[in-house]
Parts: sequence; C-alpha cells; structure tokens
Amino acid sequence: MAYNKPFKNNKLSASSKLWLKRQFNDPYVEKSKKYGYKSRAAFKLLEINSKYNFLKKGQVVIDLGAAPGGWSQVIAKKVQSPERGKVIAIDILEMEAISGVEILHGDFLDQEIYKKLCALIGDRKVDGIVSDIAPNTIGHKKTDHLRLMHLVSYAYDFTTKFLKKDGYFITKLFEGGAQKDLLIEIKKAFKSVRHIKPPASRKDSSEMYLLATGYKL
Ligand SMILES: C[S@@+](CC[C@H](N)C(=O)[O-])C[C@H]1O[C@@H](n2cnc3c(N)ncnc32)[C@H](O)[C@@H]1O
Repeated sequence: MAYNKPFKNNKLSASSKLWLKRQFNDPYVEKSKKYGYKSRAAFKLLEINSKYNFLKKGQVVIDLGAAPGGWSQVIAKKVQSPERGKVIAIDILEMEAISGVEILHGDFLDQEIYKKLCALIGDRKVDGIVSDIAPNTIGHKKTDHLRLMHLVSYAYDFTTKFLKKDGYFITKLFEGGAQKDLLIEIKKAFKSVRHIKPPASRKDSSEMYLLATGYKL
C-alpha cells in the first residue's frame, strides 16, 4: 500500500519521516520481505550479477560490511555446492546466522579478524571479494565521500592479500567514482573495470558500484 499521509507522531525528525515514507513506498523493500532477504541491498547484487554473471558454484567469497546479510544470502545461494563454496561475512555489527555463511564479527581491519580469516581459509586465496561497506554518513557530502573512499582503499588493499588470480572485486563507491590514483591502480591490477548503478540503487543516492574482474595477481 502506498504511503501518502503525514505521520501522526510529530516527535519524529523530518529526516526520519522521509526515511519511513521512502521505506513504505519502496517496491524493493516489499520484494525483499517477499523473498526472505535481510535487506533490499540484496537486489543490487542480484542485478549486477544477472548482467555480469560472476557468482558461480563452488566459489569462496568474502563479503565485507555484510550486515544484515542480504548480499551474503545471495552469494550463498549461488556458490554453495556439495564439495566447496562458502561465504565469509565480516561486519562490525552482529549478524544472525545464515545458512552457508561463516560470520566474523568485527572490523575487517582488525588483527583479530585477520587471524580468524587466515585460520578459516589457510593459505588458499578466494574467488571473490565484495564490499558494500559504508561508514555512518553524517550528511555532509564531501566528508561522507572521503570516509567511504578511505574504507574502499583499505578494502582494495585487503583484496590484494586474499584474492586469487582471475578473481573479482566489487566495491560500493559514491558518485565521482574511485579516487583517481586508486582507480589507476585497480585498472592496472584487473583485466576489466566497470562502474555500475544497478536499478535497485536509489536514484537520489550518489552510491554506485565498481566491478573489477580478472585479477592479474
Ligand atoms: C550498507 S551496509 C551493508 C548491507 C549488506 N550488503 C546487506 O546486503 O545486507 C554497510 C555495512 O558496513 C559495515 N561496516 C562499516 N565499516 C566497517 C568495518 N570497518 N568493518 C566491517 N564492517 C564495516 C556496517 O556495519 C554496515 O553493516
């Protein structure tokens, strides 16, 4: 049902009211409930994958900034196979258990998480690293952009340690794309780099995604 009336609770801030209105009117929120996804973000990854088809049975994939777990659910369904195939989800927020997903609770830059991850995968590298990581935004566009780009460069650094040859890396960016020098580095390291705005990403959001495939190692 479309939302079209003002909320009676006048104690809500204007931004909270706007957020609630958007949630009520958002078909992806409805769809995520219908299909049992933990977030509407799941559809962004589904849309990117339906176009570029990188998630395959048997892969091991690390999901950075995974909570509440929509992306991890999508990946687990695609990669699970009797012999191999798993998702390792990392987030500073706690996550409920998801079938086929190993959850590491903590900051992906933390030494403890690094050790736990090494214990899980041994000296093998992984097929894909996806990052929907977002810092808490403060509403100041330039600052939010800088904070995200800071995390993106760490996510890329992390990728260079754990990704195997021909693997893929996806990361959320804000409009304006990756910082020039970082983008140059990523372009050198992968055979193909694309910028994507999936339909499920809100039009009024400056968010977009970078998909890099064919890691040269
Ligand atoms: C947009 S949400 C991810 C949504 C997720 N892809 C899904 O489908 O449910 C971004 C997440 O990044 C996490 N995050 C931010 N900084 C992080 C860090 N340094 N280490 C791990 N997670 C982090 C936040 O806690 C948040 O849960």
